Amino acid sequence: MKRTQEDSHIGDPIVDSETLQLRIKELGQVISKDFGDKTPLLIGVLKGAFMFMSDLAKSITVPVEFDFMAISSYGNATKSSGVVRILKDLDTDIVGRDVIVVEDIIESGLTLQYLLRNLKARGPSSVTICTLLLKRGLQRTDLQVDYVGFEIPADFVVGYGLDVAELYRNLPFIARYIEDPEF
Ligand code: IMP
Ligand code: MG
Repeated sequence: MKRTQEDSHIGDPIVDSETLQLRIKELGQVISKDFGDKTPLLIGVLKGAFMFMSDLAKSITVPVEFDFMAISSYGNATKSSGVVRILKDLDTDIVGRDVIVVEDIIESGLTLQYLLRNLKARGPSSVTICTLLLKRGLQRTDLQVDYVGFEIPADFVVGYGLDVAELYRNLPFIARYIEDPEF
């Protein structure tokens, strides 16, 4: 039985697998240097960031701890709402910790802005943002993003953790999502 993920909704790769891995290695090296004498707490934003978090962590050479938060931003649609709900909170007390928020993608920035405000209120020593993808020209906040993997065009994308209605997260690359393949 062979099933491949042939799907006319999956467009051209925007970032291929090899390019992803090379860049994530670089990010890990920079983070390792910047946090050389610290033990940061990586906070992965579920579900989208799970693959990025895993590969990034493997390329970080300083000790790190892990935690996860699950938040809902989009529901199953492909439009930004800015309405954020915490579905799963941290297990860790972050008072005095150096927190690195690991996110899959920033579009408007509203999701992270909300999350950041929420995390900062808990008394961490620092909060740093690391996003794999940043959509060019769509930000509606003055959020300071410390580490960016790739700036990409404003199209909707899937793969490497990113979904449409929970599908496509397992693609090992980032591709444009084609809403209406007949068109
Ligand atoms: P923002 O609040 O507008 O910055 O949207 C960020 C969140 O929307 C991300 O955490 C993703 O879950 C989701 N999102 C934004 N753009 C895309 C995309 O192109 N593909 C999949 N999910 C996306
Ligand atoms: Mg999503």
